[in-house]
Amino acid sequence: MTRWGFIGSGKMATALIKGMIRAGLASTGSICASDPLPSARAALESDPGIATFASNVEIAGQSDVLVLAVKPQSLREVLAELRPAVTADHLIVSVAAGATIAAIDEGLGGRGRIVRVMPNTPALVGEGASAYAMGPRTVPEDEEVVKGCLESVGRAVRVPESLLDAVTGLSGSGPAFVYVMIEALSDGGVRVGLPRDVATLLAVQTVLGAAMTVRDTGLHPGVLKDQVASPGGTTIAGLHELERGRLRGTLIDAVEAAARRSAELAALARPSPPHPPGPHPPGPGPHPPHLSGPHRPPPPPPRGPKPKRHGPHEEL
Ligand SMILES: NC(=O)c1ccc[n+]([C@@H]2O[C@H](COP(=O)([O-])OP(=O)(O)OC[C@H]3O[C@@H](n4cnc5c(N)ncnc54)[C@H](OP(=O)(O)O)[C@@H]3O)[C@@H](O)[C@H]2O)c1
Repeated sequence: MTRWGFIGSGKMATALIKGMIRAGLASTGSICASDPLPSARAALESDPGIATFASNVEIAGQSDVLVLAVKPQSLREVLAELRPAVTADHLIVSVAAGATIAAIDEGLGGRGRIVRVMPNTPALVGEGASAYAMGPRTVPEDEEVVKGCLESVGRAVRVPESLLDAVTGLSGSGPAFVYVMIEALSDGGVRVGLPRDVATLLAVQTVLGAAMTVRDTGLHPGVLKDQVASPGGTTIAGLHELERGRLRGTLIDAVEAAARRSAELAALARPSPPHPPGPHPPGPGPHPPHLSGPHRPPPPPPRGPKPKRHGPHEEL
């Protein structure tokens, strides 16, 4: 059985560990996790009952798959610590936002097979939407392992790494957009006389039911919308208001803004430019791994009319 080691025992690690055990993909004996925080380790030791360690290196020694589940700002230090312990046999799965495959590969000294994942918070309730990108030296079995893990807490789709900022804009930030919509629907219910608890219950169940209808029927959402909008009826009256309020354009703009911000944040995390010629400072190396990518992200679009697009990958 594959041995899993989680570096970082926070929210995302806990969701994945519990999801895999629930789905029967791993047993408690085949998973271990590390964290500097005693309370985080104690939580995983009591539920679901896995072994935990304070040392990341110890985890690497007894795992086939190493899941990097620390905050992006801790990643550089974690990679430096793991570097001597990682071998070509390790599959490395990073869920750290913004850290590129190239940066992780560089940080680990070019050893290990790397997969980069962008999960989202509904993974915590088993309904996540994750995208993943396969890195160098990975083999088809690695994809099966990663997909199995991610699908134990929701759905997962493979994308080229260049699309992970776009994924962040849609499914990474999307839960917040939907929370706002649920709150607004509830407000609408209160506006027309419903008690708040009734309004929120109905709003939540309506969003859940509509989402499941799209997913389970496979029908285009526009077709489903037409099916419930009868001539001269109540729904078309409401839809008219949504069009007047530019709901669709606003949501498209929201995804685009979030994707653009993801690329900007990755750029901010990039190390400073190379030192000018001359002696370099002592220490492990003047150029820490690029945690945000070897290339500059696209510049933010100019204000005013938007430039014409030529393809889905050219601008976020
Ligand atoms: N939560 C999400 O929905 C979500 C969605 C997409 C991506 N992610 C990514 O998932 C990663 C983890 O996020 P999270 O929400 O699970 O964060 P979290 O709850 O803060 O968990 C991170 C854990 O790692 C521990 N840690 C810090 N430094 C460490 C080290 N050197 N070695 C081992 N463990 C260390 C932290 O301990 P301390 O508390 O002591 O620092 C914390 O318990 C992040 O990179 C994030 O970008 C999360």
